[in-house]
Amino acid sequence: MDKIIVLDFGGQYCHLIARRIRELGTFSEIVPYNIDVKELIEKSPSGIILSGGPNSVYERESPKPQRNFFDDIIKEGIPVLGICYGHHLIIYQLGGKIEQKEKKEYGRTELRIIKSEGLFNSLNDHEIVWMSHGDQVVQLPEGFDIYAETKTCPIAAYGNEEKNLYGVQFHPEVVHTPKGNIILGNFITHIAKAKKQWKLEDWIENSIKRIKKQIGTNKRVILGLSGGIDSSVTALLLHKAIGDRLHCIFVNNGLLRNNEPQEVRQAFKKQLGFENFHYIDAEELFLNRLQNLEDPEEKRKIIGHTFIEVFENKTIELEKEYPDIHFLAQGTIYPDRVETAATSNSAAKIKSHHNLTLPENMKLTVIEPLKDLYKDEVRKIGLKLGLPKEIINRHPFPGPGLAIRIVGTIDKERLDILRKADMILIEEIKKAGKYDEIWQAFCVFLPLKTVGIMGDFRTYEYLCAIRVVESRDAMTANFAKLNWDLLEKISTRIINEVKGINRVVYDISNKPPSTIEFL
Ligand code: XMP
Repeated sequence: MDKIIVLDFGGQYCHLIARRIRELGTFSEIVPYNIDVKELIEKSPSGIILSGGPNSVYERESPKPQRNFFDDIIKEGIPVLGICYGHHLIIYQLGGKIEQKEKKEYGRTELRIIKSEGLFNSLNDHEIVWMSHGDQVVQLPEGFDIYAETKTCPIAAYGNEEKNLYGVQFHPEVVHTPKGNIILGNFITHIAKAKKQWKLEDWIENSIKRIKKQIGTNKRVILGLSGGIDSSVTALLLHKAIGDRLHCIFVNNGLLRNNEPQEVRQAFKKQLGFENFHYIDAEELFLNRLQNLEDPEEKRKIIGHTFIEVFENKTIELEKEYPDIHFLAQGTIYPDRVETAATSNSAAKIKSHHNLTLPENMKLTVIEPLKDLYKDEVRKIGLKLGLPKEIINRHPFPGPGLAIRIVGTIDKERLDILRKADMILIEEIKKAGKYDEIWQAFCVFLPLKTVGIMGDFRTYEYLCAIRVVESRDAMTANFAKLNWDLLEKISTRIINEVKGINRVVYDISNKPPSTIEFL
């Protein structure tokens, strides 16, 4: 299959570039900037994109590809498009000049197109693009032509047809560059001449065939099903391929949202007809272990370990009954595997995100059918495989569940209060038609008592915080500017209907510097 490879120089938009290319119908993958050139060529990409990045090319420590990179790639005739940092890098490595500008250019800019064939095919003379840079190209090496300019950036795009090298200072991958997809499409189709062979229908069919071949006709697979989109779609694919030889283990850890265990059970057992859906009620075990714990990382750790233990015990039990269990399926998706250079360089661990890790003594082969897919692709596949819309569109929910939405110690009473408040919030957000517009909406239990008045009685009850955020990928988030009437309705209902809460506050912090979750 034809593909475009994106070299990751640490730009926050690296995954975005790869996703855009796939949306345009061509397969794409991300590789580290210092990949061995031979290995890169062996992957036979139709074209290569050099991503943006936070560094300056003239800094000694800035990420550079292997010394012979450009010579070898030019020799192979593989077209290269540099974006922002990548745009500087091509020129720097080939003997041109990059300079730091006194004032950084950031935001919407008008681009004047000088060469309208090739990269800028089907565009007008002037187009709006999104800029974000401090450096710029001031002198091109021989053989390069200027393709576009802006008022403050005379070399905003360039090309060298003989060497098949191109660069754009702006970001075609972001939505703020309205014709960005056309520019990327031009690179893919007219310059890299890559075919549009990436179709999800074909992927589903091939994936089912691959799974059947790998598992064979009598071996069995186990899967930890959380009810989230990734594990649910993994389950559906496997179920299509091997039917009741798939064993799903669903652990109710007592930290789930209102009615969630029942809904997941109903969807998989009744609606989707999963024969081997194993429901484990481990609420008591989890709550016992969490007793008196306050530290968020401690809570995460205990929950992670307990989950593995419960899962492992169930697997051992199942293995006795079904000695043919040979595989462990996981809902790993592409961004889980490919850390961008930017994130892998930063050693600071903000929060430890718990996901299932395979216990060392379990001799099962891991199978990850979604490992090359992005979240939006997983959603589309889920829809095609008949996963209920409520599961597909459900807001992300952290592995440690409500434990990281209760500040301080956790007990059943606090969990029930939180569940009830959360249910009201979600009901009202859905009624107002806002649910699909926002990234996450949830309540947080704060172990802080304040005074209130209910009828003739003074109350002294807990505080509930409401967190509603808009985001694209959870890396950054803004609090949603919900309408006052809606907020009033939510707060009135929570205070009236949830015993134990007499005050509601709205969180107006953005990420960064705050995080989405409280813990
Ligand atoms: P933060 O709070 O770090 O959250 O801004 C970013 C996104 O990650 C989710 N989150 C978690 N998911 N295990 C998970 O599986 C965790 O420990 C965890 N902590 C946060 C959070 O809900 C948000 O979508």
